[in-house]
Amino acid sequence: MTASQTPNQTAHAPIDFKAIQKLTDNEAKAVDQLILKELTSDVVLINQIGHYIINSGGKRLRPMLLLLTAKALDYPQEDHLILAAVIEFIHTATLLHDDVVDESDLRRGKDTANAVWGNAASILVGDYLYSSAFEMMVRTNNMRVMEILSKTTTAIAEGEVLQLLNCNNPATTEAKYLEVISRKTAILFSAATRLGAVLADASPEIEQSMADYGQHLGVAFQLIDDALDYTSNKEDMGKNLGDDLAEGKPTLPLIYAIENGTEEQAAVIINAIKTGDRDSFDAVYNIVKDTNAITYTEQRADEEAQKAINALAALPTSEFKSALELLARFSVQRNY
Ligand code: IPE
Ligand code: IPE
Ligand code: MG
Ligand code: MG
Repeated sequence: MTASQTPNQTAHAPIDFKAIQKLTDNEAKAVDQLILKELTSDVVLINQIGHYIINSGGKRLRPMLLLLTAKALDYPQEDHLILAAVIEFIHTATLLHDDVVDESDLRRGKDTANAVWGNAASILVGDYLYSSAFEMMVRTNNMRVMEILSKTTTAIAEGEVLQLLNCNNPATTEAKYLEVISRKTAILFSAATRLGAVLADASPEIEQSMADYGQHLGVAFQLIDDALDYTSNKEDMGKNLGDDLAEGKPTLPLIYAIENGTEEQAAVIINAIKTGDRDSFDAVYNIVKDTNAITYTEQRADEEAQKAINALAALPTSEFKSALELLARFSVQRNY
């Protein structure tokens, strides 16, 4: 057992996500109230779609990380509630846009907004959420906060465009893939935890450590998301399996399988990436299993989670710090 694990938690013991959620229960309720208030618009469709996706749940992991960081650093005021809502708004906007780009039909166990209202409505309401997020963050009257969040949304957009360029390209390398997931996913986690530190007026070293923690956790989170797209089931995940394959998305399970499979196995995967062939899902899944590509992806995620935990070393001991350690493990262990 490493020093960073609490006594009754071994590295692979199941993690009680609900118990961790309880630590920020009051704040999370206030954040949800704020989110619902901010969604109110006299444009009916904005209310409808906004409430539809927000009320369909979601883990609220990113706001939780911001709240836990602020609490671990004894932040005494209330701006963490606003910024937690801002982070969830940005996340939700990216999901609305992502489901259009990925042509996904299921999210959070329900039909996606694009499946119900169409692509145009989803894109426009996503834009509304982005804009609202910026309106809210201005209320903190903190230039650092605005600098971090505006850089973050720019990087997310770059990540999504880079990913688009990699689609249907079986020559995509692991390094290129990591560049995409660092920007499209990890940077928002990193912004959440960095902002917790910025609000608490932490030292530059602690601020950097918290940004590193979020970045590593975010990479681990997306690595597992990309494994789950092959291994999970729609009941647990609330999303359809095989969406990545259908889009010809060269994620790490496929990249590794091409490199480590036989010539015939590699050819099946290369063809599936080129054509975005959902019908070859079973064949591709068998190759991915056979070449240990899922195990490799999980190991890479485990390494990132460990780096995230190591980044917390300078944080004072508290139940909030322990929760942050466990959430890094949860990002790897989760099945939804
Ligand atoms: C989904 O994120 C998008 C990715 C970065 C993989 P989450 O898995 O956090 O989605 P919700 O908010 O819980 O639905
Ligand atoms: C994450 O990628 C998308 C964002 C960062 C918006 P995915 O396309 O894998 O996310 P899911 O699987 O649709 O949630
Ligand atoms: Mg998607
Ligand atoms: Mg996915």
